[in-house]
This record gives sequence, structure tokens and C-alpha cells, in this order.
Amino acid sequence: MPARKRTKYIKIDPQVPELHKIRLAARILQRGGVVAFPTETVYGLGANALDPHAVRRIFWAKGRPQDNPLIVHVANLKMVQALTACLPSRALELIRRFWPGPLTLVLPKSGLVPPEVTAGLDTVALRMPAHPVALALIKAARRPIAAPSANLSGKPSPTTGHHVLRDLRGKIEAVVDGGPAWVGLESTVLDLTSPVPVILRPGGITREQLQEVLGEVSLDPGTGENRGGAPPKSPGMKYIHYAPEGEVYLVEGDLFAMTSRIRELVALFKRQGRRVAVLATAETAPQYTRDPRPDYLEVLGSRQDLSQVAAHLFAALRNCDRHGMEVILAETFPEEGIGLAIMNRLRKASGNRIIRP
Ligand code: TXA
Ligand code: MG
Repeated sequence: MPARKRTKYIKIDPQVPELHKIRLAARILQRGGVVAFPTETVYGLGANALDPHAVRRIFWAKGRPQDNPLIVHVANLKMVQALTACLPSRALELIRRFWPGPLTLVLPKSGLVPPEVTAGLDTVALRMPAHPVALALIKAARRPIAAPSANLSGKPSPTTGHHVLRDLRGKIEAVVDGGPAWVGLESTVLDLTSPVPVILRPGGITREQLQEVLGEVSLDPGTGENRGGAPPKSPGMKYIHYAPEGEVYLVEGDLFAMTSRIRELVALFKRQGRRVAVLATAETAPQYTRDPRPDYLEVLGSRQDLSQVAAHLFAALRNCDRHGMEVILAETFPEEGIGLAIMNRLRKASGNRIIRP
């Protein structure tokens, strides 16, 4: 187990990253170090994907189970060609349409990819991030960068440099802080190794967007509510995820039923002496500013623009922890567009504690 170290904090301009700072971080990666960096989705914890020793240090820092493979981040098509055994035309089409961006493609791997990265699978997950800092860093390192989300395993993914520091300070060489990640939820993981492409994890690129290019796209059963069906195909989907300290409850129903039920539950949990938070939206927030009032209220954004909700969700869960919330009552969302990814993360965070009307 590596000794604790001083974690360098590198504040960087997200639009025009200072070259000397990029070079500093790239050198750490080239020497086998582990560096957290911003992407448009969430912060990643990067290491040279071709260096098994460096990759093992990612697992150690996060406390991540060894059988959960990593996404490899690339900056050009040449890297993709080197890392894959074959590149089907539909992959090229998706790359043209959605890269750089929040879409990860699972493809047959080449011999270049060490088994540490793929957890022994014969496929590799690849993505080109749309963040100027991430792209500059991969280019400067001149290596593909393996990077899971830069949180302690099981915790909500980090959307700011400070989230990363709170989880990983002392365990990694550096954090490059380029401000908040704007998508706020991780990339969509799409398996292209079966005849019909399968969404293994819903994310920043929606199912509807993929259908426009591919026609048929299926959704791995493991991404939805776990009703005791098939185990998820993406190894990472079976673990506890995104869980804050407080117990998360999802409340379903139309806006009226949902807000009334949440108000009843606030009263109930407060009578039990527990500290209660509500995750609400601009449209519903006024319902929670009169008694029974929650101890903490987070307004995630407007229901008219769910990308706002996506962008704030993980930070909101972390804020609940900081305020010592014991119970977190979350509103639910229609599972269309980015709503599918929002509900996937909320369900995981709740461990399937779902309150139906
Ligand atoms: O937006 C993102 O994807 C972020 C940023 C940093 O790029 N990364 C991220 O990585 O979310 P991570 O490790 O937290 O999630 C990767 C997911 C896991 O569910 C993992 O099981 C799945 O991708 N995965 C990786 N390689 C795979 C493979 N070969 N086959 C199937 N699933 C794979
Ligand atoms: Mg993760």
C-alpha cells in the first residue's frame, strides 16, 4: 500500500488551460502517478492506461473492487485504433457524431490494453472527453489515460476539485481544478459488441440521441430498477453507488401527490428526531418553505430543463452529507432524455428505497 503523500492542487483555466500546468500534470502521469482532472461529465482519476502499476494505484486510491473495469480516455482516433481489435462502422459514426462528448464505447480490445484496465474482459471502454483541460492533458501525456470517476468507491461522483480533495487528499499526486463539471452525470456506456447496441449505463448522451444514429438501441436490465432480474452486464453497475451518508428515499407520483407525500414524510421523520433534507425543483420548492419544513432544502433546477437537475444532483447529495442530513427525500423525474440517467443515479443512491403513490 503506497504511503500518504502531499496532493498538489493545480488551479487551471478551464477554457484556455495554462500550458505549464498541463505539462506539470502530464509529467506526473508519464512517471506513473495518479492525477484527478476535470471532464465535462464528472472529475476523473487518471493514470497511464498502458502502465499496469499506475493503473493499480487508481484502484487503491478509490478503494475500488478489482473486477470493475476502467474507461480509457483518448484524444484522437489513432489512440482508438491502437487500443481496439476492430472498429465497426457504426462506432465510427457515433464517434463522428458525439465525440468529444459524454459517450463511452465498449469495443473488442487490442493486445495493448493491460488486463488491469479491463478487469480481464476482452473488451475496452473508450471515450474522448469534451473538456479542454482533459483533452490537453491526454495530448500532453501522449498516452491514453485510464480514469474512473475521482470519488471514493461508493460515494457520489465529484463535480468539483474540492469534492475530489475531500475524498482523495493524501492518496493521489495531484488534482487539476478546472471549475465545476457542466454535465454533472457520467457518460453513457454503450456496448457495441452485440448485434443490437446496449446501453450499459445511461448518461450524458441520451437513448433518443443514440437511436437517431443507430435505430434500435436496447437498455441493459441492470440499469433500471432491480427487480431481481438479470445481473447488470456492466461490472460497475452491481456495486453500491452514489450513496451519501444519509438514507435516500425516492418519492414517486404526480407533482401534487409527490409534494404532499414528501411533506408528510418530513413531518414523520422530524417527529422521530431525524435531520431531514429534501431534493426539490424550482417548481416545487415553495411547497417546502412552510411547515413542516425540512432541515435542509436543495433546489436542483427546473423541471423544464432537466440538464440543470443533472448538473446539480451529485453536489446536492454531497451537500446533504456536509449538513449532517440523516434522511434525504428526493423527488422523481420522467425517464426521458437525461431523465433516464438522473433516475438511474437516484435509484442507486437510494438503494431502491422507493415510495410509490
Ligand atoms: O463520464 C464518465 O464516464 C467518467 C469520466 C471521468 O470520464 N468516468 C466514469 O468512470 O464514470 P467509472 O469508472 O466511474 O465508470 C465506468 C463504468 C463502470 O460502470 C464500468 O463497469 C463500465 O464503465 N465499464 C468499463 N469498462 C467496461 C467494459 N469493458 N465492459 C463493460 N463495462 C465497462
Ligand atoms: Mg464511478
